[in-house]
Amino acid sequence: MGPAGLADLDGRLIGRAGFGGTDELREISYLIARPHWGEGLATEISRALVDWHLFNAPHAQLRALVVLGNDVSIRVLEKVGFHGAGTEDYEGTLCRKYTYPTGSATLG
Ligand SMILES: CC(C)(COP(=O)(O)OP(=O)(O)OC[C@H]1O[C@@H](n2cnc3c(N)ncnc32)[C@H](O)[C@@H]1OP(=O)(O)O)[C@@H](O)C(=O)NCCC(=O)NCCS
Repeated sequence: MGPAGLADLDGRLIGRAGFGGTDELREISYLIARPHWGEGLATEISRALVDWHLFNAPHAQLRALVVLGNDVSIRVLEKVGFHGAGTEDYEGTLCRKYTYPTGSATLG
């Protein structure tokens, strides 16, 4: 299940979110249209994605990569329960890595 569009109640596109990565190592990503920043939407969709993951793939790892300095996104991840787990180079961009403490993610 890859990222999908997010619509408001009138069907207008207001963002995009979903899972990337592999079945063993899922990555969540989200993007909210600028006029809707600060309304709690990224938090709401991230919580929903975490819930989906816990219910459907509890033994897979769940993580997110955030470009250094994207403090708003880091705040979103921390609010929904992710923990910082160092940095990682993603296609030449230094990112902070966040993992969700569940299933095998807590064992290794
Ligand atoms: C990052 C993004 C998804 C956030 O979406 P959003 O719907 O505005 O986020 P929310 O409203 O759910 O939550 C934002 C939180 O960050 C906080 N925040 C706002 N500005 C902040 C700042 N400069 N520093 C730290 N935290 C900040 C808000 O106060 C809020 O936390 P709170 O509920 O504790 O007050 C949105 O800005 C976006 O689409 N950015 C471009 C794409 C992107 O960066 N995607 C993430 C890639 S990892």
